[in-house]
Amino acid sequence: MEPSLTTIDVRHFTHDDAAEIRQTLLDVHADAYADRADDPFVQRFPWFVDHWSSHPGFSCVIGYDGSEPVGYAYGAAANPDREWWREHLTPAPAKTRTFHVSELMVRPKWRKHGHSERLHRALLGVRDDDLAALLVDVTHPKVQALYESWGYRKVGERQPFPDSPVYAVMLADLPLHLIR
Ligand SMILES: CC(C)(COP(=O)(O)OP(=O)(O)OC[C@H]1O[C@@H](n2cnc3c(N)ncnc32)[C@H](O)[C@@H]1OP(=O)(O)O)[C@@H](O)C(=O)NCCC(=O)NCCS
Repeated sequence: MEPSLTTIDVRHFTHDDAAEIRQTLLDVHADAYADRADDPFVQRFPWFVDHWSSHPGFSCVIGYDGSEPVGYAYGAAANPDREWWREHLTPAPAKTRTFHVSELMVRPKWRKHGHSERLHRALLGVRDDDLAALLVDVTHPKVQALYESWGYRKVGERQPFPDSPVYAVMLADLPLHLIR
């Protein structure tokens, strides 16, 4: 199929849809991370999908090009006092209800056309949280720069698992305002 590079259909899903979308999430991930398929941390992705989608506040958007899933973003509301930014900001922001963006990925064939921004905006556009937080591998400065262009700022670093990358903790005020 020839990719339609500028238009995608974005659909919203919740915890109730977890079983229905599970294989799609795994298939898109396999394509998006094909260059790191040998990485044991990447291979643990199905556990993370099940962990996040079992959260009652799980929220997910999947972008489709026709019937073909091209990428997705998902996350869930952070538990109060367990926000990723919590240990890095003193004093805490005035308003602290935080949405953790756990995953954002676009399949290689559909990259460089703004779909990651569309998916991210669609995910957060229906939220009324005060803040959004995400983690980005510190060795991927271009991805960090992409997130900064969406309004995120780096507030610290964390390595949530011994075999995971070290991540920059990125925080944005909601609603998002475009920097560029
Ligand atoms: C991150 C992503 C969603 C952005 O998609 P996009 O908006 O279409 O933008 P691009 O793919 O052009 O990425 C922006 C820049 O980051 C770089 N980049 C993207 N993913 C990268 C990765 N995993 N490692 C290193 N650099 C990466 C790209 O090469 C690009 O730089 P360039 O313009 O110099 O080529 C997509 O690249 C992707 O799915 N990457 C793999 C998964 C990933 O890393 N997700 C982010 C987790 S925090």
